[in-house]
Order: sequence, then structure tokens, then C-alpha cells
Amino acid sequence: MQLPHVISAKDFTRAQLDELFIKASRVKKLLAKNYYQTDGSGHIIKDFLPSYLTERTMALLFDQPSLRTSSSFETAMYALGGNCVTYRNASRESSIAKDESLEDTIEMLSGNPTISVLVLRHPEADAAQRAASVSSVPVINAGDGTEHPTQALVDIFTIQEALGSVEGKRITLVGDMHARTARSLRYALSLYPSTTISMVTAEDKPRSLLEAAKFSDVLYVLRPQQENWSKDVEDPARKAQRIKKSLDKYYAACTVSNEVLAQMPENSIVLHPRPRGSELPTEVDSDSRVLHAVQGRNGGPVRIALLEMMHSGEWQRLENK
Ligand code: NCD
Repeated sequence: MQLPHVISAKDFTRAQLDELFIKASRVKKLLAKNYYQTDGSGHIIKDFLPSYLTERTMALLFDQPSLRTSSSFETAMYALGGNCVTYRNASRESSIAKDESLEDTIEMLSGNPTISVLVLRHPEADAAQRAASVSSVPVINAGDGTEHPTQALVDIFTIQEALGSVEGKRITLVGDMHARTARSLRYALSLYPSTTISMVTAEDKPRSLLEAAKFSDVLYVLRPQQENWSKDVEDPARKAQRIKKSLDKYYAACTVSNEVLAQMPENSIVLHPRPRGSELPTEVDSDSRVLHAVQGRNGGPVRIALLEMMHSGEWQRLENK
């Protein structure tokens, strides 16, 4: 049987996305309406979502920092009645610390009969693919050295929700194009051929962003991935100096300030996968078009819908459509 891994946004189909977003909107409404409801005696009513995944366990193996992705996967699994077993700092806290290979680790975890899905975050480029090749349960890539496909689902869901449709939208990516979120978003947007994608990077002149903003329905702002910069420079002082210079250039060209927002159409939005730094200063947060907080919260409903579809076989069924 072919397992419905979620490794690359290149593998998504439009039918999968359309179905997922319908479900995610329903889940979002349910969560908003019922989450804190109590019954007559003050007990919280928690079975508002069908408990599809009772006695199923998600294994999370995280070898890089995470807040939004890990917490939304865990809470999604719990919301559907399932359980989680989580390894954070996996290279220190799982047997990877004793030189167990990623392949052996995945083979062992996924062989546990109650584990139904494995969520992996790992710095290496092909980590999710390697994991999928030995796993006996579906592997979800929660960010590896190349891609972050479920973030692309959250991003496109947020665009559709805020602007009514993704079709025909002009999307400008701003910042470090090496970010895995940018790569997965570009792949997933290829399912919407009427969109136009442009980019503003640190190499552009500071005025370029102001110009691009005038013609953007979506500004998708990216963090400088400075942990990957100047890796070849050994001397710490030289390295710090180089990074500082690159950051100055980055912020000069890629900061989405109120001045940039003033150029944007009325019916437009600003997204950021977070965590954000000075490239999206807090001064812009009061503008109703700045939706990175909504986008972050959409991680929950989108991942609930994804898990439900994967476990029910619907995600696989729509794979070839
Ligand atoms: C991103 C990641 O880890 O790739 N965060 C996220 O999952 N939303 C963004 C980043 O670190 O730049």
C-alpha cells in the first residue's frame, strides 16, 4: 500500500487543498463556537469534534526549535481524541544521541502498532524523504532543510479566508528566499496558475519594496535565516561582523513598515510565518491588513483537517485528482 506521506508541497493536488480548506473552515467555526462551552454543571464540553483518533498516537520527532508547528500538531491530535509522544531536541534526547541513525529511529517508532502518524522536523535537506522511505506510517514533514509543506497549507488557507479566493492574486515574497516556508509556498501556489508571484530581496534597492507594495494583494514577509549565513567563516568576530552587515542590508530593503503598508491596496494582507524580527516591526500590528497572528492561529484548524483526512483515507483518495 502506498502511504500518504506529506513530504513536499509539490505533491499536493488542487482537489486536496480545496477539500482541506472546506474542512478547516468548519473546524475553525466549531472551535470558535464551542471551545469554552460548559454544560449545566460547569463542566467543559469537549467532544464537539468527533473523536476519530482515539487510541491513535502521533510521534513527533523535532530536532530544531518550534513553537507554532509542534504545538498545533500536538493539540490537533488531542482535539481528535488521539495521543502524542514527543521528542524535542531529538538529537540529544532520543537514541540519536547514541548515534542511532534517523532511519533506525523512524523504523522503530513507526513500528509501534499504536503510532499512526509521524511528524518530523529536521535540519537536513532530504530528512523527511529518508524518514518516509523506512516508515510504516505516514510521515509529515514539519520542516526539513528544503520544505515546510504544512506551513504552505496554513498560508494559502489564510489568503483564501481573508481575500475570498487565491485566484488572480498578486503575491510578493519579501526577504530571504532560502526559507523553507517560501519554497513550499511557491510550490503550492503553482496549483493556482492565475496568481502572480514576485520577490523583493536584500539585493534590491530600499525603494523596490515601496513600489512592489502598490501592486501586491499579499506581502509574505520572511525572517532573515541568519543561522545559515556565513557558515564558511570560522573566526567568530569576522562572522559576527559579516552577519551584521548583511542584516543591515536586509532590513534596509525588506522591512515592512507603516510606510510600506501605506502603499498597499485597501483589500490586501500581510503575512509572516513567524517568528518575526525587525523585518515586520510591531508598529504595523494595529493595521487590520496585518494578519500574521490569524495565520499562526490557523495552524490548528488546518492541521486538524489534515490529520482527519489522512486517517480517513480522504487525503489519499484525492491524491490523484
Ligand atoms: C518557520 C520555520 O521553522 O521554518 N516557522 C514556522 O514553522 N512557522 C519559519 C522560520 O523559522 O523562518
